[in-house]
Amino acid sequence: MSEQIEDELFFSELRKKEFSRIDENDHCYLDYTGGNLYPQSLIKKHFDYLNLEVYGNPHSGNPTSQLSTDKVNEARKKVLNFFNAEENYYCVFTSNASAALQIIGECYPFDAQSRFLLTADNHNSVNGIREYCKAKKGTVKYSLLNYEDLHINKQVLEKELNDSEYFSNKLFAFPAQSNVSGVKHDLNWIKIAQEKGWDVLLDAAAFVPSSTLDLKEHHPDFVSISFYKIFGYPTGLGCLLVRKNKFNKLKKPWFAGGTVSLVSVQYESYFLANDHERFENGTVDYLGIPAISFGIDFINEIGIQRIKTRIKSLANYFKTRVENLKHSNGEAMIKLFGPSVIKHKGGTFILNFRDVNGNIFAFENVEDLANKNKISIRTGCFCNPGIDEVNNCLTTDELAKYFTSHDLGNYHDMIQFLGKMRGAIRVSLGVATVQKDLDRFLEFVSTFKDKTVE
Ligand SMILES: Cc1ncc(COP(=O)(O)O)c(C=O)c1O
Repeated sequence: MSEQIEDELFFSELRKKEFSRIDENDHCYLDYTGGNLYPQSLIKKHFDYLNLEVYGNPHSGNPTSQLSTDKVNEARKKVLNFFNAEENYYCVFTSNASAALQIIGECYPFDAQSRFLLTADNHNSVNGIREYCKAKKGTVKYSLLNYEDLHINKQVLEKELNDSEYFSNKLFAFPAQSNVSGVKHDLNWIKIAQEKGWDVLLDAAAFVPSSTLDLKEHHPDFVSISFYKIFGYPTGLGCLLVRKNKFNKLKKPWFAGGTVSLVSVQYESYFLANDHERFENGTVDYLGIPAISFGIDFINEIGIQRIKTRIKSLANYFKTRVENLKHSNGEAMIKLFGPSVIKHKGGTFILNFRDVNGNIFAFENVEDLANKNKISIRTGCFCNPGIDEVNNCLTTDELAKYFTSHDLGNYHDMIQFLGKMRGAIRVSLGVATVQKDLDRFLEFVSTFKDKTVE
């Protein structure tokens, strides 16, 4: 049996065994970049775990507390092991990737000599770090993307990295994989930037569900992750991986319960904990964290490389079919944004529905119809406005005109004001996707054949 047929059988069995609720409820789920779906066995394992023992708050030395501490540390070890990061990184548990990124915003030593450089392709939870930098009088710079393929523009980024020799405390942030276009940015930028004196923040939230992040091969200083994006459950947990040699560079501006080794009230002094605990404010989610171990076991049993290959194969299928969808006059029914080849891309697609004259159907109308067909897609700007500004050719002048003339605003109002499109449709694939999900979406697209925008 060929490897491809074997995989096909394996993943359709997996769908039946672990994700039967998708079919039982007649869903077509295509929002894996928004949130992965949990396998049924993970929930069972976690509930069995909870029912088996008594778990206390880990901040004590009693037996139930000790048990929780052990289980939390077991999960921490598993996470570090999953990313091949045991020796060189701390794993700080957070409530999600955004909370991990906020630690960087709050604790990176930005000052008037600092620069925060980031790619235009970034989630808003990375974009928002710029406000911490500005508050400390540092400068912020965006590095632009190629319009055609939404990849990092090499010449521009190289220049930005080189042009900053007079800055100190320089932080460069980019996503390992775009949550919008699915582009996998070149991880070699980590080393290139570090050799030029930059600290590197890698937002790996959209990358790690279907790619290997080997932190012995690449050494970003800080990495942000949300676990529900990898195995669907639990939804309130993420982590910040901090390279040990940059740990003390992060300056925590306050302390909280669980983050200190000693505090005095009369003398008003304190010592911060010397490891991951420094950044875990208060009580960690000690009942939820052990479920991360079960989630990692689930992924490891399949193999992340196998998931990657599978998603690549489905992505190729989807792209070819989508590109072949034509109106009777030969006009393409779908405008796909991003790279023309799947090679450097994950299973996330951004697109618009075109009418017979090449006009774009409003994404809200497409979404309404998709909802009626129980097809879950995502629409809008996906918390990543940089990509949307590139795709819709918005200029800085136009954006300035809008922002300076408004105290409040939203995308709909901006569309009216500027007379330009905003937003698109995102289709994203994951470990539970099977071909029939994609066929159902393609069939849905076909219902727009020869239609015109009203
Ligand atoms: C690339 C990327 N970074 C960060 C985030 C933020 O993750 P969370 O909402 O779990 O904090 C997301 C969520 O979609 C994402 O895709």
